[in-house]
Amino acid sequence: MRRSTECLTIDSIQPEPDRIARAADVIRGGGLVAFPTETVYGLGANALDATAVARIFEAKGRPASNPIIVHVADVPAAKQLVSSWPNVASVLADKFWPGPLTFVLPRKSIIPDLVTAGGPTVGIRVPANAIALALLRAAGVPLAAPSANRSTCLSPTTAEHVRRSLDGRIDMILDGGPTTGGLESTVLDLCEPTPRILRPGLISILQIVSVTGGTVIQHARENPSGETIRSPGLMERHYAPRARVICVEDGGDEEVLKHVAAGARVGWITLDGAIKTSDNVICINLPFEAAAYAARLYSALHQLDDAGVDVIVAELPLEAPEWSAVRDRLMRAAALR
Ligand code: TXA
Ligand code: MG
Repeated sequence: MRRSTECLTIDSIQPEPDRIARAADVIRGGGLVAFPTETVYGLGANALDATAVARIFEAKGRPASNPIIVHVADVPAAKQLVSSWPNVASVLADKFWPGPLTFVLPRKSIIPDLVTAGGPTVGIRVPANAIALALLRAAGVPLAAPSANRSTCLSPTTAEHVRRSLDGRIDMILDGGPTTGGLESTVLDLCEPTPRILRPGLISILQIVSVTGGTVIQHARENPSGETIRSPGLMERHYAPRARVICVEDGGDEEVLKHVAAGARVGWITLDGAIKTSDNVICINLPFEAAAYAARLYSALHQLDDAGVDVIVAELPLEAPEWSAVRDRLMRAAALR
C-alpha cells in the first residue's frame, strides 16, 4: 500500500520535543519511522506489535528469515526482553552502550516471532544517538529497526538515502543529518560461554577482547559444509550498490583501465592516495584509518551510484582486525547476485 512519507528535520543534539512526540505517536499507532542512529538510519516500528513489524518486512522487501535488531533506551529495558543476562553482557554494556554493539541473547516470549525470524534469540542494542534515544523514551516501547533501505541494497547514512529507497512505503523520516559512524553495529552472540561475532561492525574484536579479557570467536565469512546460517545478514550479496563492485588487493590501476577500455564508466575507491582522474573515471579517495574510512564508505558508494557508473573498483584495505568490518562490507557488495 502506498503511504505518504512525511520528512521532518530535527536537531541532532537537542531534538525538538514536539517533533519527537509526533514520531512517537506514529510508532505507538503501529506506523514506521526512519530515524538516525550513530551507525546508519534505522527503520523503526514498535517491536512488541507484530502487525507493525510486519510492515517493516513489507516496506523493505526483507525475507522473513532475517531477524531484526531491537533498540532500547538502556540496560533495564534490554533485560526486560531477554531470558538471561550473563555477566559478560553487563561488562560489555558498561563499556560500549550506548553504542554500536548488538548482543544476541535468549529472548522472552513477549517479543513477536517475526522480530526474531522465529528463532529463540533476539538481537538488542542501545543506540548512541540523541534522536534515537529521545524517540525510544517518548514512544515508551522498544523499537525493532533494521537499516532503512530496501533489502540487500546499501544502508542509508543520510535521510535523503532513506527517502530515495523508501519514499511512499513508510510514514515518517526524521532527518537528523548524516550519521557519524557510517557502518552498522557489530553483532555479538552471547548465548554460548564464548562470545562469537556474527557480523563485524564498528566495534572491533580487539575492543571487545580488551573488555572481556577472554576468547572471542571471530566471524566466519565462509559457511563451510552448509552449516545453518547463524545470522542471515551473513548471506552473500548484501550492502550492495546498483553498480557492479570489484575488490582489488593492489591499487586497481589495471582493473580500472581494463573497464575504461571496454567502454564502461568507472568509479574508483582508493586509499590514502592521490585522486586519480581521467575520462570516464570518478575517483574517491578514502582515509587510511578504519573509523574515518567507515564513516564515509556508504556515502561514497551512494555517490558513485548516483553518478551512474557501471563498475566500482575498490582497493581493499589490509587484513587487520580494525579493518574487518570495512573488508566484510566491500566483499559483500562485490558478491555476485
Ligand atoms: O547498526 C545497526 O545494527 C543498524 C542500526 C539501524 O541499528 N541496524 C542494522 O540492522 O544493521 P539490519 O537488520 O540491517 O541488520 C541486522 C543484522 C542482520 O545481519 C541480522 O541477521 C542480525 O543482525 N540479527 C538480528 N537479530 C539476530 C538474532 N537474533 N540472531 C542472529 N543475528 C541477528
Ligand atoms: Mg541492513
